[in-house]
Amino acid sequence: MTDLSQLEAEISGRVAQAADLAALDAVRVSALGKSGSISELLKTLGAMSPDERRERGPQINGLRDRVGQAIAARKAELEAAELDARLAAERVDLSLPAPPARRGRVHPTMQVMDEMIAIFADMGFGLAEGPDIEDDFHNFTALNFPPKHPAREMHDTFWLPEDANGERKLLRTHTSPVQVRVMQQANGKLPSWIAAGQAPPIRVVIPGRVYRSDSDATHTPMFHQLEGLVIDRTIHMGHLKWTLDAFTRRFFETEAVVTRFRPHHFPFTEPSAEMDVQCDRSGGAVKIGEGSDWLEILGGGMVHPNVLRNCGLDPDEWQGFAFGLGVDRLGMLKYGMPDLRDMFAGDPRWLAHYGFSAFAAPNPATGLS
Ligand code: PHE
Repeated sequence: MTDLSQLEAEISGRVAQAADLAALDAVRVSALGKSGSISELLKTLGAMSPDERRERGPQINGLRDRVGQAIAARKAELEAAELDARLAAERVDLSLPAPPARRGRVHPTMQVMDEMIAIFADMGFGLAEGPDIEDDFHNFTALNFPPKHPAREMHDTFWLPEDANGERKLLRTHTSPVQVRVMQQANGKLPSWIAAGQAPPIRVVIPGRVYRSDSDATHTPMFHQLEGLVIDRTIHMGHLKWTLDAFTRRFFETEAVVTRFRPHHFPFTEPSAEMDVQCDRSGGAVKIGEGSDWLEILGGGMVHPNVLRNCGLDPDEWQGFAFGLGVDRLGMLKYGMPDLRDMFAGDPRWLAHYGFSAFAAPNPATGLS
């Protein structure tokens, strides 16, 4: 009897002193584990006489149960203490000011593109897109560029290395190759996934990135254009002028804007013109409707009969106009950014200043910007 009370006192003391869960588990193993002190005692029951077993059995089992309960109670205590310590250590200090939330801004180029698309959509234009990596045929040949035209040369065009078929692809130098894709598709020559197409009459705008080896305050090696293409039976230069004048007034949201058409040359239009917007770029910003500077914002003209023919359309049946607007330049003019290169420098301070809220989606009914 004494040996059992002694053993119980000894184990209880060790349970009470166990400082952490690992120490407590060591006590449990030494008492109740496979060859623990109490387990060894339980094993002796088998060799006892029935009378002896009737007396010792309940004593040893009682000891085992009490020790088990003591260990469980201590375990709960230690776990609670551990949780308290973690809660104290990991407490969030709600009195600290929160770090400012970084709110993204819509890049002015994307805003301006959406504004332009909204205006043209309102005039009944659909939308088409094409690939940035083009072949010589779509970027030049189908657009009636003579074989030795200077624009094909290295200083203007970013050429890719020769591919396995010996062909050199290029980064498109304008969005005009998508005119070709749209007309080819309208003529049933291409699968529908290349560009959103429609049989003539065609009336689409084509936004996208274009690339030229060029860099100064009004040129960057990558910039954005919005191409327009209208093909029908009786479309003429007057429609082009009206469309672009109407567009410009709506885009700048003022009647004060002054534009001029200059005769020009493009291999893929005849006649061809460029349009400039009058502005003042003498200060640190750009102002439209005043000053003595003219900023070119587009090229356009009547689609050349050879281009129609190259796309499988009969020039005696179909005719129309095309134009290519400089998206970033229109943004510079409307929102007063003096240097085009800043637009693609990726400076978050610039974007915070000139960027737009993602909630300010352009809508011709409620306001563009
Ligand atoms: N592709 C021409 C350019 O990038 C612009 C243009 C488009 C001119 C359509 C005429 C017709 O300069």
